[in-house]
Amino acid sequence: MSSRTPSPPSQPSADPVAPLSTRLRTDAVGSLRADDAGREVTLAGWVHRRRDLGGLLFVDLRDRSGLLQVSFGPDWTEADALDSAHRLGAEDVIQLTGEVRLRPEDARNPELSTGDVELQVRTLTVLNDAETPAIPVYRGPGDELPAEDLRLRYRHLDLRRAELQHNLLLRHRLILATRNYFHGLGFVEIETPMLTKRTPEGARDYLVPSRVHPGEFYALPQSPQIYKQILMTAGFDRYMQIARCFRDEDLRADRQPEFTQIDLEAAFVGPDDILEWVEGLMGELAHISGIDAAPPFHRLTWAEAMDRYGSDRPDLRWELEIRDWSRVLGTADSAILRGAVEGGGRIRGFRLPGGASLSRRQVEEIEAAAKAAGAPGLLWAKRTADGGSGPLSRWLDAGHWTALEAAEGDLFLVAAGPDRITSPALSATREAAIRLLEIPRVRDHAWLWVLDFPLFEEEDGEMWANHHPFVLPHPEDADRLAEEPLSVRGIAYDLVYNGSELGSGSLRIHDPAVQRQVLGLLGLDDGEIDRKFGFLLEALASGAPPHGGIALGMDRIVKDFLGAPSLRDVIAFPKTTAARALFEGAPSPVRSDELVELHLERRRSEAGEKAASAPDPEIPA
Ligand code: AMO
Repeated sequence: MSSRTPSPPSQPSADPVAPLSTRLRTDAVGSLRADDAGREVTLAGWVHRRRDLGGLLFVDLRDRSGLLQVSFGPDWTEADALDSAHRLGAEDVIQLTGEVRLRPEDARNPELSTGDVELQVRTLTVLNDAETPAIPVYRGPGDELPAEDLRLRYRHLDLRRAELQHNLLLRHRLILATRNYFHGLGFVEIETPMLTKRTPEGARDYLVPSRVHPGEFYALPQSPQIYKQILMTAGFDRYMQIARCFRDEDLRADRQPEFTQIDLEAAFVGPDDILEWVEGLMGELAHISGIDAAPPFHRLTWAEAMDRYGSDRPDLRWELEIRDWSRVLGTADSAILRGAVEGGGRIRGFRLPGGASLSRRQVEEIEAAAKAAGAPGLLWAKRTADGGSGPLSRWLDAGHWTALEAAEGDLFLVAAGPDRITSPALSATREAAIRLLEIPRVRDHAWLWVLDFPLFEEEDGEMWANHHPFVLPHPEDADRLAEEPLSVRGIAYDLVYNGSELGSGSLRIHDPAVQRQVLGLLGLDDGEIDRKFGFLLEALASGAPPHGGIALGMDRIVKDFLGAPSLRDVIAFPKTTAARALFEGAPSPVRSDELVELHLERRRSEAGEKAASAPDPEIPA
């Protein structure tokens, strides 16, 4: 690690369970321990669970800090409190006073941090009754979680679950550590607007109609990209922001329409400055989260990553690599194989020791994954004691098997054609083969930088920016920008953790002429460039320092560090995959008069009819 990056703290810091004492309570429920025995305390929280044993009554009291067993009994509880305690229901909000007592040895609960003690309740005040919860907060051993839609609909109850509280607390700590880390490096947090002009990041914008300017719209920011570059031209050397971003795109488990970036930008930097800062940050955040991240991280160029793994974000917990067998198999007596090589493509694939044990159905499952990733098919062969089996084997003679270094029990999975098609297919093949063959990991935490992405991508004659149109062309390739733009690499880098893209950044174009040229290559004419990006070009022309930055997905970091299945597990109020907020009921219809005020007209579609007939925006049941 560079000397400029602060080293991580030597001990994982404990959860910040402050005393939480207020006018209504003396202690946090989860903070009581054996050495508190004998103390008189006042606690407040929720009834997590109640067990009524006739004369004695036990309640698990819950607050943010944890659970504590509290007991009510005729010998130590006032009569009216005992009486009310029998009527307590799940999730009632109560305040208790009493004495902390050591539990008898045989009644201690080692699974609870407060399990050595209990509160013998003297007085009880019911601060608020709770209706029967729509979904239970308490879950007994073996109880399943309610369906996710139901949990999102009743998010206020779901958020009371210890797992979600833990996740959001970790998120808070990581955000705090991030701010402190960058503050220590001289970064300044500056807020950029939410009502903006659009910044192209490849998704659709959420638009906000302007009431005072008929027919005009703000866009919610897809990222603070342009603003942070302008801040560099303004002389704020080092900017950072915990930034909210909005993108109207197809949702998956690792995408939300509204998400948070750790966004940074710095002037007078080379890519290694940014990479080292981020490695230092990841070291610190990983340490807080209890996972390994030892900088410097492994680096691959984009071209190497695509060649060896078929993906720009390979999961390097497994070492399985693509092999190029164009020379070996290009001579086989097969129109598919020869055709692929003659057409300028390659024959590539995997050798999987022991893979011959997979059933035909399992091999077909791998092939289905390759097809779903765009390949017309996958060729396969098993090396068996008596030769080979599978569609590929009929073209293989003894020389081929030797050149493939085949051993008995091997499975060969092969894709032939242009890399553009075979790379994604082989990446999907790799993932499916790892899963089905249960290939052991070589490491639990795989960190990777992927460098030098191509500046542009192309399909069907249309070209678009690989990251965004502000990436600095690689100086070694810049002279090909006009003639062969697709061969030009950018000084761009992605951070990948266990196959998940955590962040993406680049050095930026700071010369307005080059910026104009790149926008022109993307099909914008001068008029459009001035209309859409004139303000950026003006700023670049005003004396812009060389600069660069990166944005890291905060939600993804928390999710991946926790090993959570979905971003919804680390966002307090997430959207469903259909981009709905089920709890508060967004999006929701608006009344026609509100539309008129915004100079909008409703199209007569089915959805429009529904909206028009709605008396007022409502929260769906
Ligand atoms: P990019 O678009 O790659 O780059 O975004 C950076 C990181 O943000 C996270 N991310 C998301 N997280 C959750 N839901 C989403 N819909 C979503 N989209 C992106 C990812 C991703 O790696 N302005 C550039 C950065 C730069 O060049 O400095 C940008 O936004 O973790």
